[in-house]
Amino acid sequence: MPRVSIQDTQQTVEIPSDAILYDALADLGVELPHGCLSGSCGACRIDVISGADKLAPAGVIEQNTIEAICEEYRQTRGPEFLQGKNIRLSCRAKVCGDITVLPLARK
Ligand code: FES
Repeated sequence: MPRVSIQDTQQTVEIPSDAILYDALADLGVELPHGCLSGSCGACRIDVISGADKLAPAGVIEQNTIEAICEEYRQTRGPEFLQGKNIRLSCRAKVCGDITVLPLARK
């Protein structure tokens, strides 16, 4: 089973392979920020610190929302904020292996 670690916390949990990250963590009592749970609001955004290749590729809805999030960050925090970041949406990200993530604040 994949292990998910939350950066800057002591939280590491095992979740079923191919589970949606947000749902699997919520089932274990780890609640990430959320809104729509369908990939359009961006509230559940995370930075994948390690293991990005262990997530299934983003679909069109997730990719469009990530692009909007990146544009928001460019305007509010500057393009340097995005350097080294791998933004995904936890409500859409399917986990296939060990990852470490950091929830991202809006604005
Ligand atoms: S909760 Fe809205 S995009 Fe994930």
